[in-house]
Amino acid sequence: MVALKLGMVGGGQGAFIGGVHRIAARIDGCFDLVAGAFSSDPARAHASAAELGIDADRSYADFNEMAKAEAARADGIDAVSIVTPNHLHGPIAEAFLAHDISVICDKPMTATLAQAESLVAAAEASKGRFFLTHNYTGYPMIRQARQMVAEGALGDIRIVDVNYLQDWLSEAPTEDNKQAKWRMDAAQSGGGAIGDIGTHAYNLACFVSRLRATSLSATLSSIVAGRSVDDDARITLQFNGGARGHIWASQVAIGNENNLTLAVYGTKGSLRWAQENPNVLLFTELGKASQIITRGGAAANSAAMAVTRIPAGHPEGYLEAFATLYREAADVILTKDLSGATIGIQDGLVGVRFVDACQRSSSNGATWIDLR
Ligand SMILES: NC(=O)c1ccc[n+]([C@@H]2O[C@H](COP(=O)([O-])OP(=O)(O)OC[C@H]3O[C@@H](n4cnc5c(N)ncnc54)[C@H](O)[C@@H]3O)[C@@H](O)[C@H]2O)c1
Repeated sequence: MVALKLGMVGGGQGAFIGGVHRIAARIDGCFDLVAGAFSSDPARAHASAAELGIDADRSYADFNEMAKAEAARADGIDAVSIVTPNHLHGPIAEAFLAHDISVICDKPMTATLAQAESLVAAAEASKGRFFLTHNYTGYPMIRQARQMVAEGALGDIRIVDVNYLQDWLSEAPTEDNKQAKWRMDAAQSGGGAIGDIGTHAYNLACFVSRLRATSLSATLSSIVAGRSVDDDARITLQFNGGARGHIWASQVAIGNENNLTLAVYGTKGSLRWAQENPNVLLFTELGKASQIITRGGAAANSAAMAVTRIPAGHPEGYLEAFATLYREAADVILTKDLSGATIGIQDGLVGVRFVDACQRSSSNGATWIDLR
């Protein structure tokens, strides 16, 4: 595969997920990072670029300037990664899509529904593609589960339950906690736990089950005193086809680091998976002993093997799952074939609609909201 030229907005010194994206973009040799506007602070942006070996003339202080300059170059970037706080995803993505540059954006797609709708229109008018990094969809055992559900191994789906539990916001964060600061500001994040990890949970439920919620009832709470965004979200879901489900997303559940778990129950069997032990999937057929399916092992199916890099027993995890999304984005950009498992603009819109519906439900006493 020819390496595509990648730019990045955000992800400068002291940032979290930008570094993960840079590793993921390189794992399969699909992208070379050649340009960036790495920080809101110009000095830090340029210092970060220098540290990353980016040529000085491709280090930008402003993302609009970067989009314009890169589009004008013969060797301009093919795609840009957006790894800034949520309220900037929409404006940055639109700036690059306007120049037909593809976008690989972290979740949630935008901070508001109005931004999401505007971005969908911008993506429709662009030759650039839009990809959303719901990275948990890239795990081999999640691909295995999705294929097993599609093949009917579970029968008709009855229940889909996803919990995403963390504890890093169990107390008011210190002033210097960069990651917490913008997340605690609704104008920048668009919501608390519901946007930050609830969107991952809902995306995973839909990705594996291939169902969509038709209605939901949500209770969002701000448990830590003085907090203006939610830190604990409990949602009851009704899916198309009659299945029901629950999501519990919490950032104040002490003892949990990134405890994301998925359970899908059907008329014939069930699947259970946990992100902190991602190389195994538990499959139980009614009346039989449970089976442990392992990544790369004898029972791994074609969907899992397609995204497996190393033999069974050598762990793959978070970085490789992210890299799978980068590889699939590169495939789509190069071949224009959209038949793969990539998460795109419509999934992003579904996620932002989910957050919006949860917020409306919760502020009306957990009333049921119709999503059809
Ligand atoms: N998929 C995942 O697992 C995952 C995990 C963590 C974060 N995220 C998402 O990634 C995004 C970033 O989160 P984070 O934790 O890395 O945040 P962070 O605060 O660590 O980093 C944000 C970066 O954006 C930069 N930035 C802000 N305004 C900018 C501007 N105008 N121009 C250029 N750069 C700008 C900041 O300077 C900083 O470098 C968020 O949308 C978050 O939801 C996803």
